[in-house]
Amino acid sequence: MRIFGIEYAPLLVPLERRKQTWAVFVWIGSFFFMGPIGVLGLLYMFFYTSFYFFPLLYIAWYVADWKTAETGGRRWNWVRKWSLWKDYASYFPVTLVKEAELDPQFNYFVGSHPHGILCSGAFCNFATEGTNVSQVFPGITFTLTTLSCQFVMPFYREFFMTSGAVTASKNSINYILGSSSGGNAVVLVVGGAPESLDTHPNLENISLILKPRKGFIRLALKHGAHLVPSFSFGESEVYDQVDNPRGSRLRNIQDYLQKMIGLAPVIIKGRGIFQYSFGIIPYRRPITTVVGKPILVERTGNPTEEQVDELHARYMEELVALFDRHKNKYYPSNIKLKIF
Ligand SMILES: *[C@@H]1O[C@H](CO)[C@@H](O)[C@H](O)[C@H]1NC(C)=O
Ligand SMILES: *[C@@H]1O[C@H](CO)[C@@H](O)[C@H](O)[C@H]1NC(C)=O
Repeated sequence: MRIFGIEYAPLLVPLERRKQTWAVFVWIGSFFFMGPIGVLGLLYMFFYTSFYFFPLLYIAWYVADWKTAETGGRRWNWVRKWSLWKDYASYFPVTLVKEAELDPQFNYFVGSHPHGILCSGAFCNFATEGTNVSQVFPGITFTLTTLSCQFVMPFYREFFMTSGAVTASKNSINYILGSSSGGNAVVLVVGGAPESLDTHPNLENISLILKPRKGFIRLALKHGAHLVPSFSFGESEVYDQVDNPRGSRLRNIQDYLQKMIGLAPVIIKGRGIFQYSFGIIPYRRPITTVVGKPILVERTGNPTEEQVDELHARYMEELVALFDRHKNKYYPSNIKLKIF
């Protein structure tokens, strides 16, 4: 139904689909609004109510809890299992596919590509049980790592931490891979926030930032964690983004802000709850995350530059091979990976 140029959702959407849209709204809504509403709520309570001690208690908790996101996090499995996340997975839908088993005797370092706008696939697969990851890979605990600014906003940080997510810093990853000899899989979205600025739904090119990213290779060597490439087919298709080719004025400003604040200021174009023409909700387009075969890595106390470069080259090769094995199921055959 189109009125004044806006495409509305039909009035009679099955409940099933309404629940799916709600689940995606909870996810994106918490990301954008939970923190700011939390801050305003605390300020309001402090200045205008007799519950002024609550914000003070919260601040004491906040300070005491500051390091948690860097020391293993605070996973709540019952939240990861919410049926909300199953609805989230069914919305796109998100599907998890494995190429090989992961033996829980070892630890793993999973590289997740591409970042897309907001890592909808990586979040659903590895930070929730929306696609049953703990049944698909029995005995493996997946930990999504992400920007530390995700753990700053009051209340949002607590909510987000229930997913098991931790910061993507070296200390944080050392903490997880160093504290056990098996059964852990750390997931890093290797391209990071800058890659999201290259995300445009076009079925010709998918840009990855990978050549300068070697820290994760060094950490995998240090801990003897097997490297696992993974690719989310469809991840770049779920949002549109305002045109910002490399070198354009908008892009230069975005690159500058991204370096300042960490988050990439992408100007996204999605849909709304009741209409399909604009908004911050992603489109219903399928995402299939293929988790590849592990590349065996031997523990190497102090890896040399050559060892890092060699394994990095091997990783890139295996990632491209994984992409080539599966791309024809999801994309037109002329699609290309552009690796920066
Ligand atoms: C997850 O597991 C449940 C129960 O075992 C099953 O009903 C459901 O279909 C599974 N979902 C997916 C996406 O595989
Ligand atoms: C894909 O990449 C090629 C080569 O860099 C470029 O000429 C083309 O315009 C790109 N296509 C899209 C849709 O961005």
